[in-house]
Amino acid sequence: MIDFSTSNRFVDMSPILIGASNTKKYKCVDSSGQSFFLKAEEVKNPQSFQLFCDMINGLPPFIAPQLIEHGFCNEGAYVLHEWIDGDILQNTFANMGKNVQYKFGLLAADILKKIHRCKPIIGKDAHKDSWGDRYSNIAIRTAYDFISSPNRFYGDNKYLIWLKNSKKLFKERNVSDVFCHFDFSPRNIMVNNDGELRVVDFGSLDKSRRQGGDPYIDFKCIRHGVEHPHFYSGFINGYFGTSPPPIFWRFISLYISLIIFKALNTSVKSKKWSSVKLRVDRAKRYLMTIPEDNSFIPTWYIPPLSQEL
Ligand SMILES: Nc1ncnc2c1ncn2[C@@H]1O[C@H](COP(=O)(O)OP(=O)(O)OP(=O)(O)O)[C@@H](O)[C@H]1O
Ligand SMILES: [Mg+2]
Repeated sequence: MIDFSTSNRFVDMSPILIGASNTKKYKCVDSSGQSFFLKAEEVKNPQSFQLFCDMINGLPPFIAPQLIEHGFCNEGAYVLHEWIDGDILQNTFANMGKNVQYKFGLLAADILKKIHRCKPIIGKDAHKDSWGDRYSNIAIRTAYDFISSPNRFYGDNKYLIWLKNSKKLFKERNVSDVFCHFDFSPRNIMVNNDGELRVVDFGSLDKSRRQGGDPYIDFKCIRHGVEHPHFYSGFINGYFGTSPPPIFWRFISLYISLIIFKALNTSVKSKKWSSVKLRVDRAKRYLMTIPEDNSFIPTWYIPPLSQEL
């Protein structure tokens, strides 16, 4: 087992202090001046970690930074990736015009389509119930947790109705599992110095669970659509090759309700009141983009022009 802090493997290791999870991340530089991204995390068993590494190695080329090495260190299991010189897409929007943002949305959609064509990974301890059953149960539980919390807010009833209707919604569409990223967002997409995209952060290194689900779940980032409507519209239009089917928007509202309420319940439980306020404000802001016409199509969404895709 390697101890990177005492081994002479790298001449420099700078911690990357991003993210809420328990992973340790570093930019490492070796004696030849080459940089690497190192991520380490405790994992339950070596087989599930191997499954994660196989998954990353099985991705089509140029989707994610190359996995150079993996193994065990004193901080748990580690992966060593090629270092991407660039920035996360989220940080680059400020320097892009609207058309460029739209084009990057199309590029992100192309990558997501490729990711969704990979074979789903089912870990040893993965749950066996269907995505729809599992998800609607979580939705109902999350709704009840929220009702009994002290954070009811004006408009929350809409979210509660969307969550409570989840069982009905899953009956309307047969969801078969595809390989999903589960946190696909401009915060986990890097733009390298050549303007190419690379996706990072494919979940926990401990792949005891399932890397498969409803492809629509990888659109939950569009809850931030109002901030960058051109990127998110390009992303949606590029993925579907046209406007998405009406049921897409209803599923998105369900998934977004769930993530908003789950995050809110977590902040309440950990008594982080400033984060509760922030999350309530976000929840209200998202509701303002959903019209009263039952279409669930957010007001910021720009449909494709027929000639552009
Ligand atoms: N290969 C890479 N090259 C350069 N920088 C990277 C690379 N991979 C990740 N990063 C940077 O490190 C940051 C954190 O990485 P990552 O998204 O994997 O961790 P995280 O969001 O904290 O996720 P987790 O919740 O799994 O800990 C990214 O936002 C990105 O800025
Ligand atoms: Mg991340």
